[in-house]
Amino acid sequence: MENIKTDDLKIAIKKAFEARKFSYVPYSNFSVGACLVLDNNEMIMGSNIENSSFGATNCAERTAIFKAISDGKYNFRYIVIVGGKKDCVDFDYCPPCGICRQVMTEFCDPNNFYIVLAKSVDDYIIYTLKDLLFLTFTKSNM
Ligand code: THU
Repeated sequence: MENIKTDDLKIAIKKAFEARKFSYVPYSNFSVGACLVLDNNEMIMGSNIENSSFGATNCAERTAIFKAISDGKYNFRYIVIVGGKKDCVDFDYCPPCGICRQVMTEFCDPNNFYIVLAKSVDDYIIYTLKDLLFLTFTKSNM
């Protein structure tokens, strides 16, 4: 990732883990945390929020993105995602669901927005949004 310092990335990973603590997951017991980082390095955290009507559940990534958008902040650089069972100590990578990828597509340049899947501050993989999309529906299709 161009111009992104490893130290800042590690802070963002820590914040994504912190965000997990606020997830509301009585149904799946699967806590996800996200940290959305803006061009100015501002970090916006999000967690997943479930609902007894399952379809009303909001993923951690969308929580962070909607928090930012509703504050008028649009310049997204990258997002860190961490997820696992609530009491998890040994994490796997947690890739974003299709709805979250679609929401990212609305607001981010696929070639210039990065998705960081982290197991720890030292173990992560980085994708561009473009890596995770194939033939997506965008505004240009309308
Ligand atoms: N979840 C996320 O928060 N992000 C994803 O990209 C994958 C799934 C949440 C939704 C639900 O609360 C739980 O993980 C299990 O699907």
